[in-house]
Amino acid sequence: MASKLLSRVRAVPARLGYPRPFSPTLAAFAPSRLLSDAAAAGAGDSPPASASPAPRPSGSSGKLEHNAGCSSVRSSLKDSELAKFSAIADTWWDSEGPFKPLHRMNPTRLAFIRSTLCRHFGKDPSSARPFEGLKVVDVGCGGGILSEPLARMGASVTGVDAVDKNIKIASIHADLDPVTSTIEYCCTTAEKLVEEQRKFDAVISLEVIEHVADPAEFCKSLAALTIPEGAIVISTINRSMRAYATAIVAAEYLLRWLPKGTHQWSSFLTPEELALILQRSSISVKEMAGFVYNPLTGRWSLSDDVGVNFIAFGTKNSQ
Ligand SMILES: C[S@@+](CC[C@H](N)C(=O)[O-])C[C@H]1O[C@@H](n2cnc3c(N)ncnc32)[C@H](O)[C@@H]1O
Repeated sequence: MASKLLSRVRAVPARLGYPRPFSPTLAAFAPSRLLSDAAAAGAGDSPPASASPAPRPSGSSGKLEHNAGCSSVRSSLKDSELAKFSAIADTWWDSEGPFKPLHRMNPTRLAFIRSTLCRHFGKDPSSARPFEGLKVVDVGCGGGILSEPLARMGASVTGVDAVDKNIKIASIHADLDPVTSTIEYCCTTAEKLVEEQRKFDAVISLEVIEHVADPAEFCKSLAALTIPEGAIVISTINRSMRAYATAIVAAEYLLRWLPKGTHQWSSFLTPEELALILQRSSISVKEMAGFVYNPLTGRWSLSDDVGVNFIAFGTKNSQ
């Protein structure tokens, strides 16, 4: 089933360059795992036989050292996931450490973000600061490896993460440069920002949705943070057999790029599932691209192969 669905994505009308437009007929898909049910999808990371300007962060509290303060709203938090990131928080800026893959992917994902946001907001992609005037939130910002380049590209950036240690590391690093010291970092969640009625031109959440408790609720919060006709960019890992082989077996067990257990295969979403839950949150996915790794050069590039890592750009409906 996965290959059938992926072939539909590849069937999207091609044009030169990436990202490419994304226009699946969502009604035609029958996702095997609709996402409020995600948490109940079962434990384990093996595929089935047939795969289908706020204050800087406060002190940490609790053994997981997250302090996201979301008592009165439905929480996207999954403590077991946050514990994994808390344990390696001090390695965020070690480009050879556990976050090496994200460091390596950064130029490629920034190219996608620059291209899609500039086109959507009528900005000049060749400008040094193309995002000047845009308010952007980076949800699940970790140590800030995406927030910082976004700020350098002129955006007014808010970075939020549920792990207090991440926010501390991000703040210390950002303060080393006057441009990035403007980033508003806060240990909180998307749903808490919604409760505070915050709004942004663009909401970006890369490699986070596979770690949250309820992807559909999480997307609703991301959508609520977005102004009408604003933009959302989400990246994640496809729930495909290839992703199991590469993102889990190879990356965690053979190459040891990531700590074992970083990813749960059952928590991944297919591109169609992501587009569907976003559509249910009034977000239309307009463009999608895959990231492919070249082991000879050690570089990532954009591709129409969304079989493993992929990124989606959507816009919020106007009403
Ligand atoms: C794989 S890292 C990605 C970091 C960053 N987005 C990037 O791509 O460079 C996932 C991050 O999401 C954070 N996170 C997980 N669940 C979260 C939630 N419900 N709300 C906010 N942050 C969350 C983790 O603490 C971690 O820093």
